[in-house]
Formats: sequence, C-alpha cells, structure tokens
Amino acid sequence: MKAYNWGILGTGNIAGKFTRALMLLDNAHLHAVGSRDKLKAEAFASEYGFRNSYGSYEELVADPGVEIVYISSPHSHHLEHTLLALQNGKHVICEKPMSLNAAEVEIMVAEARKNGLFLMEALWPPFQPSYLKAEEILRNGKMGKLLHMRGKFAFISSYDPEIRTYDIRLGGGALLDIGIYPIMDILRFMGEPASISAASVLSPTGADESTSAIFRFGDGRLAEAYCSFGNMGGISTEFNCEKGNLILTRGRDRSQHLIIEFPEDTDDRIFTPPAMGYQYEAMEVMSCLDRGLTESSVVPLSFTLTLARTLDAIRGITGIVYPGRDR
Ligand SMILES: NC(=O)c1ccc[n+]([C@@H]2O[C@H](COP(=O)([O-])OP(=O)(O)OC[C@H]3O[C@@H](n4cnc5c(N)ncnc54)[C@H](OP(=O)(O)O)[C@@H]3O)[C@@H](O)[C@H]2O)c1
Repeated sequence: MKAYNWGILGTGNIAGKFTRALMLLDNAHLHAVGSRDKLKAEAFASEYGFRNSYGSYEELVADPGVEIVYISSPHSHHLEHTLLALQNGKHVICEKPMSLNAAEVEIMVAEARKNGLFLMEALWPPFQPSYLKAEEILRNGKMGKLLHMRGKFAFISSYDPEIRTYDIRLGGGALLDIGIYPIMDILRFMGEPASISAASVLSPTGADESTSAIFRFGDGRLAEAYCSFGNMGGISTEFNCEKGNLILTRGRDRSQHLIIEFPEDTDDRIFTPPAMGYQYEAMEVMSCLDRGLTESSVVPLSFTLTLARTLDAIRGITGIVYPGRDR
C-alpha cells in the first residue's frame, strides 16, 4: 500500500479532529502543518506528531514532501488556499462548503483539472457507515419508493459578530455551515429540484441565523431542509418511503443512528466510528490517488458544483450576501 504525506493547512477546530482521524491510517503520514502563526504550527505539530511545521501556508505548499493538502481555513479562504495548493502541485481535500459561490467553485475545479490534480469537497456524511447502510436499504427496494425527505441541522451558537459562524467576511451563516448537510442529502437522494422556495432569518452581520428551504421536484415530490444556530433542533434526515421511514440522526454522544421504521416494528442501529469517522474521507482521497483518479465518485466535482449552485439559488431568494464575493 502506498503511503501519502499529508499537509494540514490551518490549525483550527476541525484541523485537530481531521488529524486525529488521519492518525488511524497506516498509509497517511503526518508530514507538515502550516499556520499563519509559526508558534501555533509548532504547537499543533508537537501535539499530533507532524515532522514539519511552517509559519505560513506558502511554506507549507512549497514543501516538496507534501503530497495532499487538507484545507481547513474558513469558507471565505477556501478558494485562495485551494488554488495555492493546486498551483504548487498538491492534491487537495477542501472543507465544506467548497467556496462561497458556484463561480468560485468552477475556478477551483478548472484549476485542479488543468493541473491533473485530485480535488474533493470534504463532505463527511456520504462516507459514514450509517449513511452507506441507508443508501443500501433505499437501493434494495425494501422501503419502496422514496416519497419525501426532511432534513435539519440545528444547534445553539449564540450571536457574536466576531466568531466564524456569524462573521460575514469569513462566510458566516447557518446555510453554508450546516444547512449544506440536509441540502446535500436531498440532492443526493432526490436529484435536482425543479424549483425552490426559501426564507432566512438574518443576524445583524447579514449572516443567516436560520434558513428554511422547500424543494419541489418535477414529479411532484417535495423535500424540506432547515438549519439554525438559534435552537437545539438537532441533526436528522428523514426519508419517508412507500413502505416505511428511514431516519439518519446523531445522538448527544455523537453516535450515528439509522432508525428503520416499518408499521409493525422499529430498528435503531447505532454506529460509533472512531475519530468521528473523518478517516473515511481521507481514505477515499488516497484510494482515488492509488487508482490514478483525480476525483471521487462518492463526492464528484459535478455534485459539488450542483450543491454550490443550489446554495447560491437559496441565497438569492433569501438575501444572504457575501460582500465583494457575490455576482
Ligand atoms: N466537516 C466537518 O464536520 C466540519 C466541522 C467544522 C468545520 N468545518 C469546516 O472547516 C472550516 C474551518 O472550520 P473550523 O471550525 O475549524 O474553524 P476555526 O476553528 O475558526 O479554524 C479555522 C482556521 O483557519 C485558519 N485561518 C486562515 N485564515 C483565517 C482567517 N482569515 N480567519 C480565521 N482563521 C483563518 C486559522 O488557522 P491558523 O491560525 O493556524 O492559520 C484557523 O485556526 C470551515 O469551512 C467549516 O465549514 C467542517
């Protein structure tokens, strides 16, 4: 098995979680970490055991040993940092959302293709065992036709204009941060809608505190997605089918549940992957590279583009604007 040298760009919250997951993989070497702050990079490197640490992202991507860069900066910087990595010959897995709008995602995709390099949006759910099981059950026909979906992702993040989730300059807002998940689910399982209705509650910075969207499909089916930083609504996606329901949800202990409901019985299957399952997306990157592929069939770039265009459409309806970055 070929082993790959990883470079981590940024040392925030998700970078630590992703690194802990990489540590589970024999074919992933913790080669280097880059931060805007040399001391932060050194602290991160010594906490997790990276061989090298750099006080700038430019130095990270200039390291000839780095083969794959994981972009964990705020959404507002995904475009700049992904291009930086690609233009320095590195394969990239970039945190979600891929960027602030579809036009920027198109630039990223074109750059990866021009350079023959791998690029994938770090959409975590489709690689999880619970999700794979749900897909299998929906595919094998036991539930009958999928009639309707409803997804929500809501937790309390108290308003603070200085934090990433509300800072409009960093791409703050519930839709791009967490609404992306139920919307991803709906697009994956029901396809592209014929029309969308939506509404947002905007915070004083202009970042959406909550957004709700209704998708109508050409065959008359409906789906709803809701996201909020304003309540403890939790995380779940419900699939209502002809013969029963599937519910993907998460426990307070972060375990993943797949609830299978038939009229006569209910089965609650619990999945608790180590390191919250972030290793599966890293495995996908390396498996694709092993096979000489520059994109994943699980999260293809065409899907990332469709997702970005859908988020753009919702923002257009509800008035979420990223100043200087929109149209
Ligand atoms: N897949 C998931 O489950 C998941 C979960 C959480 C977040 N995310 C995504 O990961 C990204 C980062 O989220 P996070 O929660 O890790 O954020 P965070 O804790 O604020 O960390 C972001 C890091 O980005 C770097 N950065 C570069 N330019 C920056 C700037 N202008 N302002 C602030 N930080 C800057 C910083 O690292 P240095 O100071 O070291 O340079 C910072 O520590 C977001 O796009 C988010 O959507 C994904």
